Amino acid sequence: MKVLIVGGGGREHAIALKIKETPEVPALYAAPGTGGLAQIAPCLPFKATDVDGIVRWAAENKVDFVIVAPDDPLCLGMVDALAEQGIPAFGPRKNAAIIEGSKVFSKNLMKKYGIPTAAYETFDDYDAAVKYLQTADMPIVVKAHVLALGKGVLICRDSAVEAVASMMKEAKFGASGARVVIEEFLTGPEVSVLAFTDGKTVKPMVSSMDHKRALDHDEGLNTGGMGTIAPNPCYTPELAQRCMDEIFLPTIAAMNAEGRTFTGCLYFGLMMTPKGPKVIEYNCRFGDPETQVVLPLLKSDLLTIMRATVDGTLTDTPVEFASGAACCVVLASGGYPVSYKSGYPISGLDEAGKTATVFHAGTKLVDGQIVTAGGRVLGVTATANTLEAAIDKAYQAADKITFTDMHMRRDIGQRALASRKESHS
Ligand code: AMP
Ligand code: GLY
Repeated sequence: MKVLIVGGGGREHAIALKIKETPEVPALYAAPGTGGLAQIAPCLPFKATDVDGIVRWAAENKVDFVIVAPDDPLCLGMVDALAEQGIPAFGPRKNAAIIEGSKVFSKNLMKKYGIPTAAYETFDDYDAAVKYLQTADMPIVVKAHVLALGKGVLICRDSAVEAVASMMKEAKFGASGARVVIEEFLTGPEVSVLAFTDGKTVKPMVSSMDHKRALDHDEGLNTGGMGTIAPNPCYTPELAQRCMDEIFLPTIAAMNAEGRTFTGCLYFGLMMTPKGPKVIEYNCRFGDPETQVVLPLLKSDLLTIMRATVDGTLTDTPVEFASGAACCVVLASGGYPVSYKSGYPISGLDEAGKTATVFHAGTKLVDGQIVTAGGRVLGVTATANTLEAAIDKAYQAADKITFTDMHMRRDIGQRALASRKESHS
């Protein structure tokens, strides 16, 4: 059996390593892959967004199953194009991937179907947006309409006029900012829940917590994610049940009612507000670096589950997780997320790999040497019986790794530990 993974980050490496645990290990390929993936699978020279190139290669090489991990190829319709060639693929079709691809679509969906989310207004017109802001409460959140590489969200504490101008007038976020969503500022702990779905059944994975800001104590710029822990201690069984009843199942039903059946992994970015759980955002894919803590805890066979989401048999397929905890610490290039240099040799990988799993996010294999090749370079994940032990183990392993200008947050998991103490006191 031939399996192709589309994408090239830590998330894809985590998926690939889990697929390698399948009893009948498939022949694995990656496009474009990373330095880490190159050590376990041939990497093909296609960009993840090269729908034509990847689909042609998959058809010519008789690939049996494709896992489309990143949002851009999903939003471009790669799963649809593969289906036209008779190749089953994990991930939503284009008409369902819009749940991430368009903030206006997802906000309108939630409003129409009564799914709890922040109150909001959508604006195409700059003057109307500014007029609305004159009477709006602060803080307030301004979001660009479509994918802006995770940077299209601005939280405004004093005035939001500048934020709206940067999107609508100065096009700082490109064409995506021509339309903006202005929404209520929510408070409460954030929880990420990834869920498998075949469009009928939803099977949530273990919950997690991302750390989006670049610096300790949640300071600095928003990034793709500097570290994660799982499970998220703020996500009690009662909240999990409420999310299932009020958010997960209604979202699947809403997508079906719109003729946009969602299959694959649906990512719920949630906030546990004083008024109950609300949706901050949907993603049409596995989170990065959430995947790097969730999949190491998965006990069931990932490839079987992924195939079940395509075949519509998820209800009969076990999705079970170990009872322990996991922590992933991201090692980034100094200067990320703004500007950074690449090409530095990385040392200590083998030593770190003895007690933890090192997922490669932005690395390249050059003449047998792994070098840095991106903003987020590595994700070091450790699992243990308790969250405290997982955090210690992850940092001990991370400290074995060095490269020029390496930056990591030192407080991954501390907020989760503190929230647990609060709830126990
Ligand atoms: P997003 O790109 O939509 O995930 O937003 C990035 C981050 O901005 C989220 O993880 C939240 O921390 C924050 N955020 C987004 N929307 C809101 C909101 N309505 N209220 C408070 N924080 C928000
Ligand atoms: N870690 C956040 C995301 O994958 O969107």
